[in-house]
Amino acid sequence: MKAIVYEKYGPPDVLQLKEVQKPIPKDDEVLIKIHVTTVTSGDWRARSLHAPAGFGFISHLFFGISKPRQPVLGTELAGVVEAVGKDVRKFKIGDQIFAYSGASMGCYAEYKCMPEDGPVAIKPANLSYEEAAAVSFGGATMLNFFRRGKLQSGEKVLVNGASGGVGTAAVQLAKHFGAYVTGVCSTANVELVRSLGANHVIDYTKEDFMKNGETYDVIVDTVGTAPYSRCKDSLKDNGRLLLVVGNLTQLLQIPWVMMTTNKKIIGGPASERVEDLHFLAKLAEAGGFKPVIDRRFRFEEIVEAHRYIDTGRKRGNVVITLEL
Ligand SMILES: NC(=O)c1ccc[n+]([C@@H]2O[C@H](COP(=O)([O-])OP(=O)(O)OC[C@H]3O[C@@H](n4cnc5c(N)ncnc54)[C@H](OP(=O)(O)O)[C@@H]3O)[C@@H](O)[C@H]2O)c1
Repeated sequence: MKAIVYEKYGPPDVLQLKEVQKPIPKDDEVLIKIHVTTVTSGDWRARSLHAPAGFGFISHLFFGISKPRQPVLGTELAGVVEAVGKDVRKFKIGDQIFAYSGASMGCYAEYKCMPEDGPVAIKPANLSYEEAAAVSFGGATMLNFFRRGKLQSGEKVLVNGASGGVGTAAVQLAKHFGAYVTGVCSTANVELVRSLGANHVIDYTKEDFMKNGETYDVIVDTVGTAPYSRCKDSLKDNGRLLLVVGNLTQLLQIPWVMMTTNKKIIGGPASERVEDLHFLAKLAEAGGFKPVIDRRFRFEEIVEAHRYIDTGRKRGNVVITLEL
């Protein structure tokens, strides 16, 4: 089968289309024919080894010291079950599904095996393959952070970076959980963020949300420009800062802030959970969650797609189509 392989870290052109062995499903696995995958900030980090300050060595250890341990990137997919192992009961050949391989990656390929009990779910009928492929990275990340941040209905939430892959999911999920949502983005993305349900949008080129006197129960930072030291006065009593991206110094501050104030910082990686995929699928089916698709590229255009991601300006999600 064809796969996009990278054998060294670096710029987008380290990605190469190659012929590799087609996987064979184990007894408890499904073999998925991938129709669509995505290019996320996770793929960008694994390809470029660009890590938040202080995480350079940890990132090297995680992805592979001298070369990538997993040569096939791609955290998300949507496609069709082509074969099942002999013990598989939850899926059958022909099922239209989406899946989240997360940190184990491997979705830049024509086929992928996933355990039937893993993060795999039936594709919501009202989502296209492109939309279904883009449900998980932002959606599962923000479900995890909102759960750990104990978001309550009626709370005021600010999403910094509301137009990105994670931010567009954060705005929609916070609205679903009954929050009053403020999104922060640049001028070009104000209408997009409003269309996702944000009650209020701040254009960061015109206003600094940390200096306008407003306070929030929850601040989500998906950009890295709202460390606790800068945004603590914008957090209400018992407020929580959800550091989706944070450097080592910021994460080391967490215990001190918790001991000395009534505010909390929540950071670190979000894990992949099967239940979260099922939750997102149900919510999408009910019309409460719809991934934003920015640009579409063909499998052969993967280098171009990564060049676009490297700009840091994507709106929502970028999808890669293999077959539709
Ligand atoms: N902790 C975890 O488990 C976890 C999971 C997933 C992702 N992450 C991290 O979360 C971060 C965001 O991921 P993502 O996929 O959402 O990235 P992304 O889609 O690439 O984000 C791009 C967006 O960032 C916006 N942006 C850039 N500078 C901004 C600023 N100063 N203020 C507000 N918005 C700004 C851009 O909007 P404009 O063009 O309008 O500026 C663009 O829409 C990444 O660093 C990723 O590594 C962490």
